[in-house]
Amino acid sequence: MKYSKTNFDNKTILITGGAGFIGSNLAFYFQEYYPDSKIVIFDCFRSEAKFSNGNLKSFGHYKNLIGFTGDIICGNINNPDDLALLNQTKFDYIFHQAAISDTRVYDQEIVMKTNVNSFFWFLEKTKKDNATLIYASSAATYGSMTSPQKIGFENPENPYGYSKYVMDQIAYRYARENPDMQVIGLRFFNVFGPREYFKAKTSSMVIQLGHQILNGQAPRLFENSDAILRDFIFIEDVIQANIKACNPKTNGVFNVGTGLPRSFQDIADILQIELGVDLGTEYFPNPFKGYQTHTQADITSSRENLNFNPTFSLEDGIRAYLPEIKRLHNEPLE
Ligand SMILES: NC(=O)c1ccc[n+]([C@@H]2O[C@H](COP(=O)([O-])OP(=O)(O)OC[C@H]3O[C@@H](n4cnc5c(N)ncnc54)[C@H](O)[C@@H]3O)[C@@H](O)[C@H]2O)c1
Repeated sequence: MKYSKTNFDNKTILITGGAGFIGSNLAFYFQEYYPDSKIVIFDCFRSEAKFSNGNLKSFGHYKNLIGFTGDIICGNINNPDDLALLNQTKFDYIFHQAAISDTRVYDQEIVMKTNVNSFFWFLEKTKKDNATLIYASSAATYGSMTSPQKIGFENPENPYGYSKYVMDQIAYRYARENPDMQVIGLRFFNVFGPREYFKAKTSSMVIQLGHQILNGQAPRLFENSDAILRDFIFIEDVIQANIKACNPKTNGVFNVGTGLPRSFQDIADILQIELGVDLGTEYFPNPFKGYQTHTQADITSSRENLNFNPTFSLEDGIRAYLPEIKRLHNEPLE
């Protein structure tokens, strides 16, 4: 669906992190609805390098981009020479998704360098090109602040959440000092949907539990999962937010959630109903400290300033996603 009156045809659009989950969905959105837009993806793609937590350093995967016909630049946002390749093009819109997206990377130096230092480059590029910058912030900025989470009341509890919080502060300053700039931060809550598969253990519980159930296993959840609530948002509504953020009433940082928290138990139950099975649920102790047990986006200002209007319930999103979950079920992660 077209979410904006803006005609993006003939616009030049940069999507960093375009080989990842949200970035690749954005790329296909523009390709489908604005075939005459010029789309450039900048992503380092995955190498075999891993963080000390055992997860890959990058989840970008070429298979997310099969069928994409725009330009692709393989580059690292930490490398000035790679970034300089983008100077050959003047962009109208920059969607900055590239980041260490893994909330359980505790090496503060690498998280801050990757997520924060590179942000200055994209802000400067936005200024130089007179572009609009839409960048990914996160609900992790809130840590365990009580629900509903509201912009201006943050308490990040991991380096990832802190890095996004710092990006937001830098964005506010740039927007203040450069009133002509358009800089919009989007605090995504728990996103799920097609093209997240290669995030493996960091993908949503929708696909992870879906695959457990399709394996004939009882879905495995932390104890008390009926009391652990999150604001789960389907990728289509996240795309809506990104597109609408191109015409904001004001610069700022905005929550992107449904405003309706649901439990992890709900996900397991909906999946079993939709798949027509009843395998029960297996519970195990939650090993994580600083775990968010209740998130709920206050989307008042997102509605007012972006005209953001989420449309997918958890049930709707899971139903729309299930054919893809089934298709991927037998595809080995590589
Ligand atoms: N998915 C969610 O639920 C969620 C929630 C809150 C915020 N976010 C944020 O949204 C953005 C997109 O998330 P996603 O779920 O698509 O994650 P993702 O990991 O699938 O995508 C991130 C992309 O960035 C690329 N990347 C990582 N480090 C890079 C580097 N140094 N140089 C160049 N490219 C690099 C990766 O290859 C990957 O393709 C991220 O900034 C993430 O922090 C996502």
